Amino acid sequence: MKINVLTVGPGGRENALAWKISQSPLLDKLYLAGANDGFKNLGEVTDYADYDELARIAKAKNIELAVIGPELPLSQGIVDVFAKYGIKCIGATQKWAKLESSKAFAKEFMQKHNIPTAKYELVSDVSQIDDALARFSVPPVLKADGLAAGKGVYLPTDFADARDMLKDFLGGKYGEASKSVVVEEFLEGDELSVISIFNGKTIQTFIPARDYKRLKDNNEGPNTGGMGSYCPVKISEFHRNKLEEYLVRLERALLDEQADFCGIIYSGLMLTKDDVKVLEYNMRFGDPETQSLMMHLKSDLLEIFINAANGKTAGIEWNEGTSMCVVLASEGYPENPRKGSVIRNIEAAEKEYGVKVFYSGVKCSGENLVSNGGRVLCVCKSGHNVKEDIYKACEKIDFCGKIFRTDIGEKNERIADYCGLKK
Ligand code: AMP
Ligand code: GLY
Repeated sequence: MKINVLTVGPGGRENALAWKISQSPLLDKLYLAGANDGFKNLGEVTDYADYDELARIAKAKNIELAVIGPELPLSQGIVDVFAKYGIKCIGATQKWAKLESSKAFAKEFMQKHNIPTAKYELVSDVSQIDDALARFSVPPVLKADGLAAGKGVYLPTDFADARDMLKDFLGGKYGEASKSVVVEEFLEGDELSVISIFNGKTIQTFIPARDYKRLKDNNEGPNTGGMGSYCPVKISEFHRNKLEEYLVRLERALLDEQADFCGIIYSGLMLTKDDVKVLEYNMRFGDPETQSLMMHLKSDLLEIFINAANGKTAGIEWNEGTSMCVVLASEGYPENPRKGSVIRNIEAAEKEYGVKVFYSGVKCSGENLVSNGGRVLCVCKSGHNVKEDIYKACEKIDFCGKIFRTDIGEKNERIADYCGLKK
């Protein structure tokens, strides 16, 4: 039986999800809410004023499943609205979206369920600053409690810097979002993005991915939404066992809490020397991890989603080799990206190097496709020796102000092995 599906969200992540869904024999018709001009050809674009209107449209179009991409609609309760109309979603309810939209809520959840994470203090008044900082031996990380468009995490250089920035946060640097601040222990190690799907009873986990958050090579420059990704990531036997333990604990915690949603849980993890610790939760697919994952996924994504929405699981299969994604961004990103540059050679690069390009920030201007955001395109490939082809394609694709990292997947030994997880 075929179904109509709606994806919600504008960027490269949603392009990758929509592209993969569009290949499913279980799909009747795909609808796209908020798609950019680069991938609107994958379905019928649906405009809407608010989530009630979108749900009414979905009902009228016989849409049975909605896949919610970004954090904002989740935190605003889109899944709860769709539930009123009897439409199933892949996405957390507003209550559970708080694992991403409130760092304090996430920390309490982890503490309650003995999930390993950095030690922390919650600070909501300047009078608490000195006591809180005195509890750390190295300068702690500052995290605005609420959503701050990916900018709410600050790594201070020393205690004086921590004190000053904490005052700025509490003074409203990120508005309401930073009126409360999680002050947490600095952790050392390699980071890992682990994306799971929770069907209300069990979690099922995709292969681990790595994302490159800093703008420049060698992890220098400001934090960004992500400049590239690869999967699977090879991890040690020790960390793999710790990861398995963690996933079992996460599942148990959700069941204990009677969490009643079907959606994504992205665990941002730090592989420390003696544990696997949670840095953050996102209640959505990661961007650009999703682009690598979707390229590498052999199974039918829509079948995985339909199963999950019905409280079931089925095995997930992956391609051989490695999958990688390099983001082509625009000069000035992340602060003030240049927009409106004409983009050329995408199709030629896809044909010549066998890559797939997903569209993050683009729009049509007359006959041309132009850049329209910080992250513009994602150049991806899955298989063997993918890096060379991806980088040749990145050179070939042309727009004024193009910037990209040249060291994605640099540690080649890490991109060689499959890390299968039981959970
Ligand atoms: P988050 O948005 O919480 O993932 O934080 C953004 C980035 O800040 C992470 O990807 C890490 O690189 C860094 N970070 C966050 N928390 C910590 C921590 N406790 N120790 C060290 N680095 C951290
Ligand atoms: N790539 C990290 C994120 O999606 O938040």
